[in-house]
Amino acid sequence: MTIQAVRGTRDILPDEVQAWHGIEAAARGLLARYGYRELRTPVFEETELFARGIGAETDIVSKEMYTFADRDGGSLTLRPEATAGIVRAVIEHNLLNTDPALKVYAMGPMFRRERPQKGRYRQFHQVDVEAFGFRSPSVDAETIELALAYLDACGVRQHELVLNSVGDRHCRPAYVQKLRDALRDVAPALCADCQRRADTNPLRVLDCKVPEDQAAIDALPRIGDHLCAECAEHFAEVRRQLELLGIPYRLSHRLVRGLDYYVRTTFEVTSDLLGAQSSVLGGGRYDGLVKDLGGPDAAGIGFAVGMERLVLLLPPGGGEGRCDVFLLPLTKAAFDPALRLQRALRQAGLRALLDPEGRSFKSRMKQADRLGARFAAILGDDEIARGVWKVRDMARSEQEDVKEERILDHLKEKANG
Ligand code: HAM
Repeated sequence: MTIQAVRGTRDILPDEVQAWHGIEAAARGLLARYGYRELRTPVFEETELFARGIGAETDIVSKEMYTFADRDGGSLTLRPEATAGIVRAVIEHNLLNTDPALKVYAMGPMFRRERPQKGRYRQFHQVDVEAFGFRSPSVDAETIELALAYLDACGVRQHELVLNSVGDRHCRPAYVQKLRDALRDVAPALCADCQRRADTNPLRVLDCKVPEDQAAIDALPRIGDHLCAECAEHFAEVRRQLELLGIPYRLSHRLVRGLDYYVRTTFEVTSDLLGAQSSVLGGGRYDGLVKDLGGPDAAGIGFAVGMERLVLLLPPGGGEGRCDVFLLPLTKAAFDPALRLQRALRQAGLRALLDPEGRSFKSRMKQADRLGARFAAILGDDEIARGVWKVRDMARSEQEDVKEERILDHLKEKANG
């Protein structure tokens, strides 16, 4: 029996990889403009980091982590998200000492043992963006604007920004108590997960997706009605600045997100093009997490984009061809000049390809089309006799003769122009 990829994992094949290069390059370019630098952390960490960072009662930690015993008896976990590991690294290397306003990003695979479906995998990838040391609501607005600018840079337009404030350590406990009280009457009619969470972590009930539970959950007390003055003021300012920037959003009091570290602003961007797994990115503020994990009392805010989901949203066609000049030597005598031109074109930075297998002219032209070649450079006995190359503009279906001594410069000008 042949061995197949593990359920929930997937290969990114050469045809698709160009789209990935595109979204990676867009992320690097844009994030540099907003003052972010890359930070790379390991894909596995001590299990305790995630339990403490994300919250033991979350689905991620309680059901979805790939946790294994190390040979020395320690417990390790493949990272289910990037924030906890980045916070660990920031603390471990005292990065906030030298840069108390630190902006970093990371890209790479994450692992969650969820039920696989379209847009949901057990190994998936994120672009993760984090800013430390900023308490101002303008950084919430800037972070959200950055998330949307990234989607825009990738050509993704059809989406909705969903926004909420989940309060902070001052106001949330009283709200959670209200929720717990309200759930006492309602919970017995809810799903088993909700019944358990009504007790252990009532906020998580708001995450419930079971259709029969929705009406009862919608009627529960809303965090927005119980924010303390500081949280309410912060949220009002975030909203004012989003409006100032012309960024539309929808408020959702149920957007508590699946991780426990959030305070105040939470947000997601969803797209109905994605189907059931509609969230392409999510994030929020997490003031307090750095301190909880043993670091200074630094604020934090960020978001992560699901790269598989982003690729699903890319406009069709967007990928450019894989070849600038496809060379077609038609006879034996044409082969050596074609080899020399191929090398010169490559040295000039162009993507030049030559098929040495002696396939028919027709099949080579088809190959040039398949590669998205912009130009074909054709050389046969007739061209050799006349001291020219025939250059075909593939998109325009136009041909012209170019003098042999001009061919390299001509193709360089055309390809770069
Ligand atoms: P998250 O909402 O758990 O947040 O994940 C962010 C994004 O990762 C989701 O919107 C989705 O696009 C993608 N994603 C999550 N799980 C899967 C999966 N199983 N398959 C495919 N894509 C998936 C976080 O991870 C936070 N650490 C974000 C953050 C950063 N908050 C503050 N800073």
